[in-house]
Amino acid sequence: MKEKNAIRSRRLFLAASAAGLAGGTHLAGAQSSGTAAAAQPVQPPAGNFPIKSISSANGQRTTKRAYEMILQGADTLDASVAGVTIVEDDPNDTSVGYGGLPNELGVVQLDAAVMHGPSHQAGCVASLERIRNPAKVAQLVLERTDHVLLVGRGALEFARAHGFQEENLLTDRARKIWLRWKQTMSDRDDWLTPPDESDDTDKQAAAILRNRPTGTIHCASMNAGGDISCVTTTSGLAFKIDGRVGDSPIIGAGLYVDNEIGSCGSTGRGEANLQNQCSFAAVELMRSGMTPVEAGLEVLRRVSKHTVPRLRNEKGEPDFGLNFYLLRKDGMHGGVAMRGAAKFAVTDENGTRLEPCTTLY
Ligand code: GLY
Repeated sequence: MKEKNAIRSRRLFLAASAAGLAGGTHLAGAQSSGTAAAAQPVQPPAGNFPIKSISSANGQRTTKRAYEMILQGADTLDASVAGVTIVEDDPNDTSVGYGGLPNELGVVQLDAAVMHGPSHQAGCVASLERIRNPAKVAQLVLERTDHVLLVGRGALEFARAHGFQEENLLTDRARKIWLRWKQTMSDRDDWLTPPDESDDTDKQAAAILRNRPTGTIHCASMNAGGDISCVTTTSGLAFKIDGRVGDSPIIGAGLYVDNEIGSCGSTGRGEANLQNQCSFAAVELMRSGMTPVEAGLEVLRRVSKHTVPRLRNEKGEPDFGLNFYLLRKDGMHGGVAMRGAAKFAVTDENGTRLEPCTTLY
């Protein structure tokens, strides 16, 4: 374990040093052109950055854990991954990890990605089956391979090689919700609609099925040195076509961090995010001087503009949910949502709480 950490630290240190050098060069270039650098957010002196962790609304335990670990000196990526692991392990969160809703075949397929700000390194897994903690596997892809993204069988073999235990991730609750979806989806197949809801799980299933779930968890954390890392992990769109991969494990879509600027991560309709590379775009908008909320709203406007008619409501607005969680290097944070009331989790020196997202519609 000691040796493992030593290799990892050395690798991240070397990468972080290289990134630091590259960052310096880039900034000098930008300053001489008198454009992007001039608009960059003001940054506190090193060591005085506000320690904080932000997450989607299902992540209050996540941000609390990450914040506590950072106070104890943990790396921002280790802290963020430890935070989302709590939710991956929770059978009651049907959008992430163990207990996540399955694909159309009834198989739970998980996606996750991590990005380490100081080294600008990333690791991702997609369509991973039978392993409840894809974020940890994604972190190992970053640390122990020369690759960024492993999928399906290869991701599973990689997890097995590192000692992850295989298990059936489909809880009885998730199975019943999936079964009700199959039974009620169409009156032109051979599955008959079951009688009225008979127990609590059936009632919950009926409620969940009224709005097809795309839940996920994103977490980004910053330490006093201003280093930022982030993670996104999900069971993806409920009842997706076998093999469908959403935005969560795709760098630039489900998450992105530039350690000099800030981070952005997403939950909601992955296809819309993939088509607009929103997390990368939002970080670049913060580079140009926008606040987190301004940047998040601008990417939502772009998504809205590019939305096809079949995904618009009677008012012409996108009819799906899409949220972004943004953390700027100077400590400013924000959450935005395409529609409806939404919240996000924050832990900082003022404690752990939910804050409202700014909504486009
Ligand atoms: N944002 C999660 C997904 O679309 O899979």
